[in-house]
Amino acid sequence: MLEKESMLEMELKLLKNLSLLIANAKDFNTALDICLTETCKTTGWSYGEAWVSSKDKDYIYITTSYYGEHGELRELYEEIKKFNFGPTTTTLPGYVWQTKQPLLVKEIASDSRFVRQDLVAKYNLKSALAIPIIINNDVIAVIIFFMSNTQRDEELANLVLALIPQLGVFFNQLHMNDRLRKTNRALKVLREVNQIITKETDESSLLNNICKIAVDTGGYRMALIALKQHDKHKSIKIITSAGFTGDYIKQLNDLSWAESHPKSSLSGKVIRTGKTHIIKDVSSDQDFLPWRDAALKEGFQSVISLPLIVNKDVIGVLNMYASEIDAFDTEEKILLEELANDVAYGIMFLHTKIEKEKIQEQLLQSQKMEAIGQLAAGVAHDFNNFLTAIMGYCNIIYDRLKDNQEVRYHIQQVIDASEKALTLVQSLLTFSRKQTVELSQLDINQLIINVSRLLKKLLTKHITFKTVLTDKQLMILGNKNQLEQLLMNLVSNANDAMTDGGSLTISTSSVEIDESFIKTHGFGKTGRFALITVEDTGMGMSEDIIKKIFEPFFTTKPIGKGTGIGLSVAYGIVKQHNGYIDVISEHGKGTTFYIYLPLIVE
Ligand SMILES: Nc1ncnc2c1ncn2[C@@H]1O[C@H](COP(=O)(O)OP(=O)(O)OP(=O)(O)O)[C@@H](O)[C@H]1O
Ligand SMILES: [Mg+2]
Repeated sequence: MLEKESMLEMELKLLKNLSLLIANAKDFNTALDICLTETCKTTGWSYGEAWVSSKDKDYIYITTSYYGEHGELRELYEEIKKFNFGPTTTTLPGYVWQTKQPLLVKEIASDSRFVRQDLVAKYNLKSALAIPIIINNDVIAVIIFFMSNTQRDEELANLVLALIPQLGVFFNQLHMNDRLRKTNRALKVLREVNQIITKETDESSLLNNICKIAVDTGGYRMALIALKQHDKHKSIKIITSAGFTGDYIKQLNDLSWAESHPKSSLSGKVIRTGKTHIIKDVSSDQDFLPWRDAALKEGFQSVISLPLIVNKDVIGVLNMYASEIDAFDTEEKILLEELANDVAYGIMFLHTKIEKEKIQEQLLQSQKMEAIGQLAAGVAHDFNNFLTAIMGYCNIIYDRLKDNQEVRYHIQQVIDASEKALTLVQSLLTFSRKQTVELSQLDINQLIINVSRLLKKLLTKHITFKTVLTDKQLMILGNKNQLEQLLMNLVSNANDAMTDGGSLTISTSSVEIDESFIKTHGFGKTGRFALITVEDTGMGMSEDIIKKIFEPFFTTKPIGKGTGIGLSVAYGIVKQHNGYIDVISEHGKGTTFYIYLPLIVE
């Protein structure tokens, strides 16, 4: 038996230490940790663990433990950590949780509430002490110590039993602080994010700043925003992230929102269902198994994945990772859902703005082309008549001057120049679509195969020519001569752009133009189209040049080299076929023209 004096001394020391340390603990969890460590060190016990319940009180789990100064009993902790006990009375922590009464089990070996009999025996632990920490008649934690079954242990157990409930006020305070802190952090993030949403004009910087705020202000360990893609793999693209991303983020690069995809993920589920999903405990949640180890390495203990919803359509997710188990309670979840709604609104607002600008720009462009077309058509029409008259009279003079070869030669020059002018005028008429053309059913692939030989002739030697044609038939209603002309004009431009050599590729495919295509491109009509792309590796064009290329007589080529009519003819031909022509080019990085022609509907 211990001396009365030393027992009292120990009690006082422990009480003093514990109250001092716990009163200054930064949170509830740290307080529990201190309680375990100090008690074990003072009493000489080798193992202690603290159980808390999930926010919904549907299970309890170990939140912290002491397993010897040098981790001697770590195995015991690792083994039990794997379990989350439901609200059950058949385990020791569950029993104490339910009964709200402390319990000293003297002979563990003969008590069925122990699931770790073999391990407990291995470490020669014979008895256990379980103490509930109660606030307002609610258990908020259960602390359990293991010890040998000596007389001294029993006395110590009684001492600890009397002592720990005295710390209740401190625990209460910390517990309340924890809850407040969580609600506060979500609120602060919400407020700051709302401030920038109305100010940012660039989407990627907006999303990036949102993640930064979540980490810097909210104290979440990591935050990321990923958007749903409409490609064939239904992939999920991570747009931005902040915080402890480490190696974790690297293994998220080929996520999918397709149900059956092997990399179908938590975010994928949220995208499919449009519902928030919480992983309360990364280490035990089966849904999170593929990402568990990497997540734990970065210190993520729980995760919330929030859907970003725009007009009832889930466009992506906002994921937050916390360093505590079960970090997201109902209040915080509601606030974060509000945050996700605001983020989605921000994205939509910027999208609509950009779409509007694009559509406006396209509208202006086509109005301008229409006006130029009208003007060109008027001039061309009159010129056509004048030229016909000039050429007619020249031919008469030519015939009458059989004996005067010198004058005849001059007249021939007039006729030749007039013919050139006539071709130009015809081109202008093609641009303004003022001639009638005959249309017939034709297969785009076949047309390209047939005209390839001619196209190759337009290219200088050091340019390679390649076609990549789809297996599918691409039947359209078209004018063979006009379409050949279109390809020749594009190829001849590509040739001019690749003075130092390069490669030219003509490809075909079939595409579906839908509402989202129209929104992102600013042009189009819904339906199926044949797509011809003409891609070169030439010098490319700047934004300013691209804006003007389809106008008649716009050229960057020196006088005598180009008239600037090639692309305006191409434009007219595509319009004549009820199609669309688009271009993507960057200075120094080559050019690709896209031609969409409506497919015949079977
Ligand atoms: N593939 C291309 N790469 C780089 N620039 C191009 C390309 N295609 C067209 N351009 C630019 O667009 C301008 C207009 O082209 P367009 O075919 O209408 O006229 P042009 O080639 O200059 O003259 P023309 O075709 O009448 O002989 C060109 O001068 C050039 O600046
Ligand atoms: Mg040209």
